Amino acid sequence: MFRKIGIITGSTRPGRKSLAIAQWVQQHAQQRTDADFDIVDIAEFKLPLLDEAIPSSAGQYEHTHTQNWAAAIDSYDGYIFVAPEYGHSISGALKNALDFVGPEWNDKAAGFVCYGAGEGVRAGEHLRLIAAELQMATVRAQVGLSLHSDFKNFETFSPVPLRNQQLDLMVEQVIRWSTALARLREVERGDSLLGASSTRVASL
Ligand SMILES: Cc1cc2nc3c(=O)[nH]c(=O)nc-3n(C[C@H](O)[C@H](O)[C@H](O)COP(=O)(O)O)c2cc1C
Repeated sequence: MFRKIGIITGSTRPGRKSLAIAQWVQQHAQQRTDADFDIVDIAEFKLPLLDEAIPSSAGQYEHTHTQNWAAAIDSYDGYIFVAPEYGHSISGALKNALDFVGPEWNDKAAGFVCYGAGEGVRAGEHLRLIAAELQMATVRAQVGLSLHSDFKNFETFSPVPLRNQQLDLMVEQVIRWSTALARLREVERGDSLLGASSTRVASL
């Protein structure tokens, strides 16, 4: 089965590193033949601070910017988050983008490329908790990039060779779980169309 994976940039500031890292992820992952990898740049969606009246878990969106974001997120089987560490957590921009929509994240796989002065470990741990609440299945393998060793002069992205292996493993795990969860979503869609719970049990 052919899967569609969204690589989500986790920052929006001028001079951010997330886009260059997302491009590296895409170029590397695209060598695979079982999935497509798009960059989903949160900056391009120009999301304001959350301005929807109804909590996103209801999946009812009033504003065009939210509907556009929801349609983009809904179109993927899984995600790779490129998440910088800000204040020992993820960036406000990424948290806001995560909060904006609800069901579109559910029953999807997620992997992380985190970065910061200390490989973005704390951002990754916080992101795992948030993803769990959004019913994403987060894979174990993770890429951690350090400003000290993976960027020349703390600026230009230049990953050490080990990062390619870490990325390969994480992408493999995301695709495996994306494939498994796509089946689950198919079965559930069949259920709601047919209104027959027995279909689900039989298909599982
Ligand atoms: C507001 C802010 C807070 C930060 N806090 C941390 C931090 O707690 N730990 C860390 O390792 N790096 C921290 N950094 C460094 C960032 O991880 C690093 O600058 C990274 O490149 C930011 O991602 P971006 O370039 O995509 O915006 C912080 C940077 C910013 C701008």
